[in-house]
Amino acid sequence: MKRLDDFRLHFGNRELVPIIIGGMGVDISTAKLALEAARLGGIGHISDAMVQDVSDRRFDTAFVKEKTKLYKHNISNSDKSVVQFNLSHLAEATRLHVGQTMEAKRGDGMIFINCMEKLTMNGPRETLQVRLNSALDAGIDGITLSAGLHLGSFALMADHPRFRDAKLGIIVSSVRALQLFLRKTARLDRLPDFIVLEGPLAGGHLGFGLDWAAFDLATIMQEILQYLKTEKLDIPLIAAGGIFTGSDAVSFMEQGAAAVQVATRFTVATECGLPSKVKQEYFRASEDDIVVNTISPTGYPMRMLKNTPAIGAGIRPNCEAYGYLLDGSGNCSYINAYNEQIAQHPDGKNISVRDKTCLCTHMRNYNCWTCGSTTFRLKDTTRRLPDGSYQELSAEHIFRDYQFSVNNEILLPEPLTV
Ligand SMILES: Cc1cc2nc3c(=O)[nH]c(=O)nc-3n(C[C@H](O)[C@H](O)[C@H](O)COP(=O)(O)O)c2cc1C
Repeated sequence: MKRLDDFRLHFGNRELVPIIIGGMGVDISTAKLALEAARLGGIGHISDAMVQDVSDRRFDTAFVKEKTKLYKHNISNSDKSVVQFNLSHLAEATRLHVGQTMEAKRGDGMIFINCMEKLTMNGPRETLQVRLNSALDAGIDGITLSAGLHLGSFALMADHPRFRDAKLGIIVSSVRALQLFLRKTARLDRLPDFIVLEGPLAGGHLGFGLDWAAFDLATIMQEILQYLKTEKLDIPLIAAGGIFTGSDAVSFMEQGAAAVQVATRFTVATECGLPSKVKQEYFRASEDDIVVNTISPTGYPMRMLKNTPAIGAGIRPNCEAYGYLLDGSGNCSYINAYNEQIAQHPDGKNISVRDKTCLCTHMRNYNCWTCGSTTFRLKDTTRRLPDGSYQELSAEHIFRDYQFSVNNEILLPEPLTV
């Protein structure tokens, strides 16, 4: 019987343990978590979502404070078009976050950064260009392009000296999205180094509509493998979404995956950025507690726990401080939904916005509990403590469980000693 450790992910002359911990913004996949994956010979992700805020918390910078101060006059204005990101601050925050992480890296693995195109930041092209190129400047091993089609993203990095040496890849959920991407980037003569196929059971935003349940990862994987074969493209395909045990992972490797990308099991790791209280919510969740809804202003469906505080909250939009979801004209669908509620409740009391959420603020405060579809199984991966709570796990424990387990078994952690 095979274990995941019997396989290796080949990147040129490098061999890695075929386990990738997926990017989880905002700072849920922390540098600490990514560093563990790299130390153990796999690939870890940090995320550049709300990187100025992440930098403030990690390095005591004051990017958010300065931006808020600059645009304070606009707080009660629903037109947010004046709220622009300072590109040199954005570059500095990215370089700090990436640079310090890379400096701390040990072991044979790699660290990638997850960049979501849907973070349009009231200037989609120029902000993304700064984000991508600053991550390359700071020595990131690779970039995973996600949440968006990214049709122009490779071109934004084409003049960077590391454009052909860093590992660049894309997350897709269909063969069609992949074809579009490859067609669009063909003139750069630079193929992606890897493709992550994220199926409908993943956490975060989904690349499917509300009919996500009609799709399945294994079927889409065969379609993509067939397409790559027909086009004679030798690009590692990485399977993601709902892979819960080492045996699940082996099954995808046997069907042709080059590695697996996993995330949900690591949401309850000590190194994960979610507060301990929130990790307990993930442990406690039952299958019925997990929903896919359309409250994200990105326009993509998102999976989350249904008791997440972000659902139905009515906070004032916080774009002067954050503003990561403002489109190129300074709009965000949460602002519109919020204004409709204000029009109905002019006293500003009891505001509850149900159809959209202020995703920046709630993700920043760990109040949007996005999760994968297997979250309800997390309680089976650990021990119950005398006070009824669940024991957090080390990232190493989870990583090694994926790497070495057989028969769909899950190794429980050593009991805590008092
Ligand atoms: C809490 C959480 C947050 C996530 N955030 C992001 C994100 O910011 N960007 C992204 O591309 N994917 C995100 N994902 C998706 C993961 O990177 C990963 O591909 C997927 O969840 C793997 O499936 P699994 O969770 O069933 O193992 C997130 C997943 C979770 C569980």
